[in-house]
Amino acid sequence: MIQVAPSILSADFGNLARDVKEICEGGCDLVHVDVMDGHFVPNLTIGPVVVSAVAKAATKPLDIHLMVENNTFFVELFAPLKPEYISFHIEEEKHPHRLIQKIRSYGIKPAIVLNPNSIPEELEYILADLDMVLLMSVNPGFGGQSFIDSVIPKAKKLDAMRKRLNPNCLIEVDGGVSDKNIQSLKDAGVDVVVAGSYVFKHQDRAQAIKSLQI
Ligand code: DX5
Ligand code: ZN
Repeated sequence: MIQVAPSILSADFGNLARDVKEICEGGCDLVHVDVMDGHFVPNLTIGPVVVSAVAKAATKPLDIHLMVENNTFFVELFAPLKPEYISFHIEEEKHPHRLIQKIRSYGIKPAIVLNPNSIPEELEYILADLDMVLLMSVNPGFGGQSFIDSVIPKAKKLDAMRKRLNPNCLIEVDGGVSDKNIQSLKDAGVDVVVAGSYVFKHQDRAQAIKSLQI
């Protein structure tokens, strides 16, 4: 069954703890946290002070998605919060292998993110070291954008690669996910989906989560 990680970017930040509790009680699998630095992406979100409040409210593990320039600095900042995953963008990291070892040294599962234009073949010599690959199905920076269809053939290609190199590595897709595209994501071999606006704008958030757990 597909795991669902609602992105709290679309939550009500005036009632963040309430919303985090609601999605956890509503049956989500992970809580997706988007960290943006205003440099790698043209938006700025939350740091460790707010994310520690999220961690306190959450009864499900955190999935931290870094969209930042200085990955090592941010990994050190968020590692004490003990998330399940920390993912970083391959487009912004000169030494992915080194950073993966660092994330793992904290007991956290490392994941690499690919922007819509990045190719899975780049992961040939690093896939064996990863717990998850996150494929962006929108340009990173904002919630509520429309789904980029080319992620489907990309996920299929990655699925074939991971079967050969690391069958335990999960495939996650982030951006524009809804009940409209969940079946094609499942068919392409995707294991985890991030959903922000679809879950938080739904009148029954638990039902929205359930509709993606196919
Ligand atoms: C975009 C973020 C996503 C975003 C998804 O940069 O990485 O996690 O919040 O939001 P939706 O599901 O609304 O596209
Ligand atoms: Zn994200």
